[in-house]
Amino acid sequence: MKTSPDWDPRAPEVLQDHGAACSHMRGHCPVAYSPYLGWSLFRHQDIQRVLHDHETFSNVVSTHPAVPNGMDPPLHTHYRRLLDPYFSATEMERFEPVCREIAATCLRSLPGQGEVDFCESFAEPFALSVQCAFTGWPGEVKERLRQWLKNQQKATLAGDREATARLAGEFEDCVRGILAARRLQPQADLTTRLLQETLSETEIISILRNWTVGELGTIAAAVGILVHYLCVHREVQSRLRRQPAELAPAIEEILRLEAPLLSNRRLVKQATQIGQHRLEAGDRVTLMWASGNRDETVFPDSASFRPERDQEQNLLYGSGIHACPGAPLARLELRVALQCLLEGTRELELSQQREPVRATYPAAGFASLPIVVKA
Ligand code: HEM
Repeated sequence: MKTSPDWDPRAPEVLQDHGAACSHMRGHCPVAYSPYLGWSLFRHQDIQRVLHDHETFSNVVSTHPAVPNGMDPPLHTHYRRLLDPYFSATEMERFEPVCREIAATCLRSLPGQGEVDFCESFAEPFALSVQCAFTGWPGEVKERLRQWLKNQQKATLAGDREATARLAGEFEDCVRGILAARRLQPQADLTTRLLQETLSETEIISILRNWTVGELGTIAAAVGILVHYLCVHREVQSRLRRQPAELAPAIEEILRLEAPLLSNRRLVKQATQIGQHRLEAGDRVTLMWASGNRDETVFPDSASFRPERDQEQNLLYGSGIHACPGAPLARLELRVALQCLLEGTRELELSQQREPVRATYPAAGFASLPIVVKA
């Protein structure tokens, strides 16, 4: 097993600009070892190989069961069959008006003039409200969830296993309370529906935890990234105001350029070769999404915004059997949120007073995004 590091994913210059660090590594050391992440893969073709080779690479990366993320076939296939219908086209159609109302409420709460931190005032409340509406959770849990996610990201960056275990316990307590209430008084919501499946309470909690992370972590980051992009590229903002039908491909392309989810993990099951390197059974592998999506060999002129390009190779929602089951919900939310913001305002601009602050790994997007909303 290799022990000398090729890079430090937690070095200040890497944390400061993850995208630039990825581009550098892709060019100079595309298969790079670090004690923190194991083998990081920066090339699109290497990431794709891992995603589609389940004999060699496993998703069972932790001793804690994670449904369905931390599973391999055939168990994984069983759970995906059970869970994918929760994100079906019919479910999305049913949810769209609810989502639209949430976006409108978040927009109404923004001040009509002056500066506002878009993350705090729109992106986070939007993601929290959608999470509660989608699962049928009471609004009171929003603040608890917000704090929980922040602490969890801190613990992951610090590699603090004790804190991670404590936070998993906190989330469990919160969801156990909701499940107990739904058992007593079933509702017409997805949490009650999960209780009616052949699933243990531990499995349901794990499923809801993964949905929560997808929603609160990734959607909130994505909404911030999109609005920042539109503030910086005013010509794109104007075009999308005139042509809202172009929103869907534009969103996929902006999030290819600026990843809202930075990485995912695998474990090597049997010795294998990637590039010049031999990986042994038990080695950890990290898929660097932001880097794969900027790979020039797959996306010509990869740093340019070209919404018309073929998005087939875009790794935004992953690829293969673990590809994001929440993608239909994510696409719906992002389209609705942007449409509502563009329809309900005249202009979105970056603040002249304060700079945006980027979030640090493992979080993506912005920690703070001061903007001016012109109603
Ligand atoms: C912009 C928003 C989102 C992005 C960019 C995103 C991206 C991804 C990616 C890249 C994967 C593949 C991970 C891997 O191969 O290891 C994934 C998996 C997953 N996502 Fe998302 N996601 C988003 C939103 C959501 C939402 C809203 C939910 C649920 C409500 C969700 C639930 C999941 C789950 C459960 C998995 C694991 C699937 C499996 O292992 O079979 N995601 N997501």
